[in-house]
Amino acid sequence: MTACNGKVAIVAGGGGIGGATAHRLAASGVAVVIGDRDGAHAEAVASTIVAQGGRAFGQACDISDEADVNALVDAAVSRYGGLDMMHVNAADLQVIFQDSNAVDLDLEVFDRTLAVNLRGHLLCTRAAIPRMLERGGGAIVYTSSSAAFIGEAERPCYAMAKAGIHALMRHVASRWGKAGIRANVVAPGLVLTENNLKTMPEEFKVLALKNTRSTRIGKPEDIAAMACLLLSEDGTWINGQVVSVDGGATMR
Ligand SMILES: NC(=O)c1ccc[n+]([C@@H]2O[C@H](COP(=O)([O-])OP(=O)(O)OC[C@H]3O[C@@H](n4cnc5c(N)ncnc54)[C@H](O)[C@@H]3O)[C@@H](O)[C@H]2O)c1
Repeated sequence: MTACNGKVAIVAGGGGIGGATAHRLAASGVAVVIGDRDGAHAEAVASTIVAQGGRAFGQACDISDEADVNALVDAAVSRYGGLDMMHVNAADLQVIFQDSNAVDLDLEVFDRTLAVNLRGHLLCTRAAIPRMLERGGGAIVYTSSSAAFIGEAERPCYAMAKAGIHALMRHVASRWGKAGIRANVVAPGLVLTENNLKTMPEEFKVLALKNTRSTRIGKPEDIAAMACLLLSEDGTWINGQVVSVDGGATMR
């Protein structure tokens, strides 16, 4: 990633993948604001960045809450003077355990999944774009998932929300590309994070590795590397794309 000194980014959802993106952005000179439903976690990620010499702060933000999202963007602008980049990365990864199948699932599971994983991404988009336009452009990267295209027998709401992000991203790229705003999606395969390592059965990891065309399962840094490329000047000519980062598990 080329140096981005003076740029300002928000990472919405600062867990495994978002935390890695925040660190990588900060290491290339970007001032980073981490928003997470878990405010203490967002602050902890920011503190580590600051301890390493970077510029960052964390703030509690539930991306399904419009006031929270607007406050996060306002805080970035008031602290660092504007907004150039956003990694819209949060997803509700608890409700996913009840996301069984289209016949059996409780519709509240659908509503909650869509509220965070899709509507929340729209809220972030709506709050960020006017601020990016004030700077003459910007870049947004959304995190979806290979679940959007592989047709799994379970978690249909998660897959529907992730597929919806692709449509949102393409709309943003088309509507504001000429105004200097780029939008892209990174679609991870299985990535081992602190959180999913706690709950994931060993056989799931074995199966995931078998499905890749790679020697290992993904790390948060693999996804962060692509997100940062797409956000940075290196990605200037990339717009409206869904990029799979999954060790070759999917070939589209
Ligand atoms: N880890 C994987 O294998 C994998 C694979 C494909 C896609 N993804 C996607 O990557 C993204 C990041 O996931 P991760 O694996 O780093 O998970 P993670 O659990 O490490 O991080 C997710 C973060 O989002 C936060 N969050 C949850 N709900 C939120 C809300 N309503 N508002 C704000 N923050 C909220 C959590 O507190 C957490 O810090 C998600 O969109 C996920 O769907 C992950």
